[in-house]
Amino acid sequence: MIKATTDKSAVALISGSGSNLQAIIDAIENKELKLTISAVISNVDNAKGLIRAEKAGISTSCIKHNEFSERINYDRMLLKEIEKYKPDYIILAGFMRILTPWFINQYHGLIINIHPSLLPKFPGLNTHQRAIDNNEKWHGCTVHIVTEDLDGGPPIIQAKVPVKINDNSSTLSSRVLKTEHQIYKKALQLLISGQLEYKNKNIWLSHEKLEKPLEIVF
Ligand code: GRF
Repeated sequence: MIKATTDKSAVALISGSGSNLQAIIDAIENKELKLTISAVISNVDNAKGLIRAEKAGISTSCIKHNEFSERINYDRMLLKEIEKYKPDYIILAGFMRILTPWFINQYHGLIINIHPSLLPKFPGLNTHQRAIDNNEKWHGCTVHIVTEDLDGGPPIIQAKVPVKINDNSSTLSSRVLKTEHQIYKKALQLLISGQLEYKNKNIWLSHEKLEKPLEIVF
């Protein structure tokens, strides 16, 4: 477990590379983010993010989704594992599973996700290719609160990057990913410090309702 000078803790859920997780771990180590990651849970046993977590001394576990025939049973097992750590937040860091409304309601307003598009544009998968195919001038990523509405919960902060004329989904995704690493830690610190709150289905920044997400242009 990496400890920070705060009482707030989180469990992170991953499925893959875990570069967002790494950026969060680095931000904690650099004291930019005052959070303790108590555990990292993956649904894929060879997720590289598990190795990153182990290197940082964080407890890891894997609950394989393909061992459950019903989504709800998976989510019940996931919750049981998470509750061992009694986290304040659940951080989705490239967790490639849709969570059931039942699960989301157990931690309503406390599950945070990063999505690689300027939501509400391009919820779901293949966002970079869809942005290119749609001739978007701008693309990016969004940190948002997870609600039952898939990729539709209130957005906190967005990073905007220009789509270049020669971009393909790989060049665009790697530029967007770098910005994900910048904004996820910022959004988390704003939440943890209490500057930013989620209440009455809206985001409030220093007690003022946020009419649109914070934005960083790269
Ligand atoms: C990121 O693009 C994130 O936005 C999406 O999945 C990807 C995960 O990347 N949800 P990583 O595992 O953090 O490297």
